[in-house]
Amino acid sequence: MCGIFGYIGKRKNAGALVIKGLKNLEYRGYDSWGVAMRLSDGSIKCEKDVGKIGAVNPDQFKEESSLAIAHSRWATHGGVTKINAHPHFSCDQTIAVIHNGIIENYGEIRDELKAKGHTFRSETDTEVIPHLIEEELKKKGTTLEEATRRACIRFTGRYAILVLDARSQTLVAARTGSPLIIGVGEGGEYFIASDIPAFLEYTRTVQYLDDGEMVAVHDGKIRFSDIASSAERTKRLVTIDWTVSEAEKGEYEHYMLKEIMDQKDSIRRAVHQDDEEILAVAKSIENCIGCILTACGTAGKVCMAADYFFSVVAKRHVNFTPASEFPIFHHFLRPESLIIVVSQSGETADVLEAMKVAKAAGSKVLAIVNTQGSSIARAADYTLLINAGPEKAVASTKAATGQMAVLLLVAHAVAGKLHEGRTLLLETSGQINDMLNPRYIDHIRDVAKKIASHDNMYIIGKGWNYPMAMESAIKIQEVSYIHAEGFAAGELKHGPIALIEKGTPCIALMGNDEFTADMVSNIMELRARGAQIIGIGPKKFDVFDHWIKVPDSGAAQAIVNIIPVQILAYLLAVIRGRDPDMPRNLAKSVTVK
Ligand code: AGP
Repeated sequence: MCGIFGYIGKRKNAGALVIKGLKNLEYRGYDSWGVAMRLSDGSIKCEKDVGKIGAVNPDQFKEESSLAIAHSRWATHGGVTKINAHPHFSCDQTIAVIHNGIIENYGEIRDELKAKGHTFRSETDTEVIPHLIEEELKKKGTTLEEATRRACIRFTGRYAILVLDARSQTLVAARTGSPLIIGVGEGGEYFIASDIPAFLEYTRTVQYLDDGEMVAVHDGKIRFSDIASSAERTKRLVTIDWTVSEAEKGEYEHYMLKEIMDQKDSIRRAVHQDDEEILAVAKSIENCIGCILTACGTAGKVCMAADYFFSVVAKRHVNFTPASEFPIFHHFLRPESLIIVVSQSGETADVLEAMKVAKAAGSKVLAIVNTQGSSIARAADYTLLINAGPEKAVASTKAATGQMAVLLLVAHAVAGKLHEGRTLLLETSGQINDMLNPRYIDHIRDVAKKIASHDNMYIIGKGWNYPMAMESAIKIQEVSYIHAEGFAAGELKHGPIALIEKGTPCIALMGNDEFTADMVSNIMELRARGAQIIGIGPKKFDVFDHWIKVPDSGAAQAIVNIIPVQILAYLLAVIRGRDPDMPRNLAKSVTVK
């Protein structure tokens, strides 16, 4: 959700720096933006507005400043207005706060503070933070760090906050449930952000703040501590292997297209796993009693595909439960259970909650994530990184195929066929490289133009193409805003076929497999009701109105089949004049429940 970025150090351009860095986090939220910078006369300059930070010129913040915070918002409490945009301030305007998450008990704290004379301007939960800190600071000898600690102890809910104190020239950050990472620069300068791309231009050395921890930076010195006990904490320095160019759009018009094209290489990177680790994970799957996959959204559809991978390749029964529903099934968890969580960001609140439930039952957790050092990666018992590199478009593309590649590799390892699995995936990577050429995209553009004016689309598949049909629907919905639904092909005749009208676009995801005859029958049923069929598969059939060819990739067919749908969804968005990178109402990393 919201993007957070703060700077404290010796540079004199903190205002412009945080605005520029925050543009790299815009995928986290883009309803409104705001910045607070401490000027050399000790005052704070604040600017905020509704709309995207992308349109803001950093050069307008040219006043000298060495301490600044900036925020891009994904609204929860209070509408999308300039007043509700962060930062929020104490009554005396010396403390500015930006926040990601929800302070659940803000109502009672606000009433209490109002009774003490504090004036509130916004409808947000966030505004209680600077006022409560201000109140605590009135107690003699209290530092900003201590006042923030006491405030945090009062809060319930999940949050990450940055507090700027113009008087003491201190930056304090605290987290409980929402991510914060400290970038360590040269000569006592620090960058604190909700995600690494904000400061990747300046440093790749980071320190992770864990839940229940806070950090205070003043005069080039940094101090980590536990919020509850105030005990000092020491933190490891970690070097991140992401590069600036990986996190930029480069020659592409949108991140989504760049990330789709990166699949020429990202499957190979996903398969680049340590054999011993994969075999250890395979062993824990073989030995566990009850293995459950859990994740959200696209990662959830990846888990559903993995159900099929484990069943078909390894003859192993694994269940999927959406992470938001997972806690309901806690009765079935035991110390011998293994929970496999899948996440691109590694910060999804529902997944973290599921992990908490699993851990409380003594179960072990395997995480398959993209973001090194993320909360999920650090909380898991075992972690496999998919090595997709930064994924910035809200729509998950290369992370989804990378997750499938790792899960398919693990399924092969469980079947005692690790080498075979790797060979299959490397061959698939080569096929994807051949497939992703400009002519291929032009062909999909032609198809997109023919169907872009329709308001409803349906996607069908059987076997692992069924979860891919559901994933196709997510891709089309989230970027083009066309109503799309994915079904198991055999289910249509049990109800949804009533929705088919003359010309309704229906996408059929096919493999070169034993389901071909069934799929063709289901397609015929759709055609008989007037549907326009877009067939995606290795073979052409007469029942297709349009055919998008994909390579025959055997057990990796789900991976190759979703790629033309990603391109189609992207092109539908562009043709319909939508912004595929920042679709309405969404944010990249969903850190609220
Ligand atoms: C996919 O295109 C989404 N925007 C969304 O469904 C996403 O996959 C989901 O929120 C899970 O995120 P995660 O992988 O970062 O946990």
